[in-house]
Amino acid sequence: MRTEIEHSLYDGMKHEQGREAPPAGFPELPLIPGGRYTDPAFLELEQRYLWKRSWLYALHVDELPRPGSYRLWRKTGAPIIIVRDKENRIRAYYNTCRHRGAPLVEKEQGETKGFFCRYHGWTYDLSGRLTAVREKRDFPGMDTSCFGLNEVRCEQFGNFVFINEDPQAAPLLASLGPIPKHLENLGFDSIRHIASSSFEIACNVKILLDAFLETYHLKSIHPQTVDRFLDSRGTHIVLWPHGNSMMCTPHRRAEWRDPGAVGMPEVPTAEQIFLSQNPSYNFYPNLVTPPAATGTPFITFWPRTARSMTVDVHWFAPEGAEGHELWPTRMSNFERILEEDTQFAPRIQESVETGGFRGIYLSYQERRIYHWHEELDRRIGSERVPPELRVRPMLDAWLATD
Ligand code: FES
Ligand SMILES: [Fe+2]
Repeated sequence: MRTEIEHSLYDGMKHEQGREAPPAGFPELPLIPGGRYTDPAFLELEQRYLWKRSWLYALHVDELPRPGSYRLWRKTGAPIIIVRDKENRIRAYYNTCRHRGAPLVEKEQGETKGFFCRYHGWTYDLSGRLTAVREKRDFPGMDTSCFGLNEVRCEQFGNFVFINEDPQAAPLLASLGPIPKHLENLGFDSIRHIASSSFEIACNVKILLDAFLETYHLKSIHPQTVDRFLDSRGTHIVLWPHGNSMMCTPHRRAEWRDPGAVGMPEVPTAEQIFLSQNPSYNFYPNLVTPPAATGTPFITFWPRTARSMTVDVHWFAPEGAEGHELWPTRMSNFERILEEDTQFAPRIQESVETGGFRGIYLSYQERRIYHWHEELDRRIGSERVPPELRVRPMLDAWLATD
């Protein structure tokens, strides 16, 4: 992160703490229609134009330790194999034989020298080439080079691997906008994976994700935890094009440190802000991370059905700090906070399904949620969204570039 950016975040937090109202001209935001959380036709558009066409965090390189290590990944519905090839490149393929579509791997994870289809015995190597066809004599004119596995876009930001099912998508790093620049000194090229866990919540995925884009709730639902050390009135927000955004919340006392991380090794190049304040990023659409000099969690939010979702929590440590004795405490403290965040989600789901709910009314400090929804309509194409479910663009004038 450039020094000017770090300074602008500090200035921004200070300004927020002292202001009496939103900046002049900031509009009252129209209601976000509740049907965007429940309407089957809308959720279908979202599935098709958002989840099938976005860069989504899939795994960390440590989860594929050797050439031939693979994992089966199904977060968008399609079965995708993510594998480390012989040249140590991480690639992704649909788990779909080019003959008649049988699966190539059947376990959730493992190690293999190549892919062998158990239906009729076609064989592929780790780079996806079709290398053997049983009874090839019966396929007149067949050019095996045209029947390699169908590849899925798979790119890395440091040690983090992302997948995108849209072959036309802009490269991952371009789609992240200024985020990689903000995080460039956090050692993501050498960061290690420590643990991952998952839990399910009975609500539409967006209901819970919304809670991670604002700090307005800190005083009410985190009085004994986060609110004791973060000053939510000082939260400074930055909105970027393509839906990405961040917020930076000041510690109540600059010298306060997460007790679960005191004494943990720090990334030596990390800026002070990643130690003494609380920045949190949204990689659009579904990755939220509050990176810290002592280690970083990724929280990812996934749709399951219209009214159920999965949260995955991944933890990453600076190289050399993987085995630190404080990790279990730090992770369980974080889990307690997450439980606080999830407590209302199933009942909010009930609410949005009733006629008693008119829409979501957002404040200036909750504008990241509005920004998120504006981008969703851009991705779907506003003209495809039923008029009563559209979100009117309001925030174009409030975007930043770095
Ligand atoms: S479906 Fe794979 S070999 Fe026939
Ligand atoms: Fe929270």
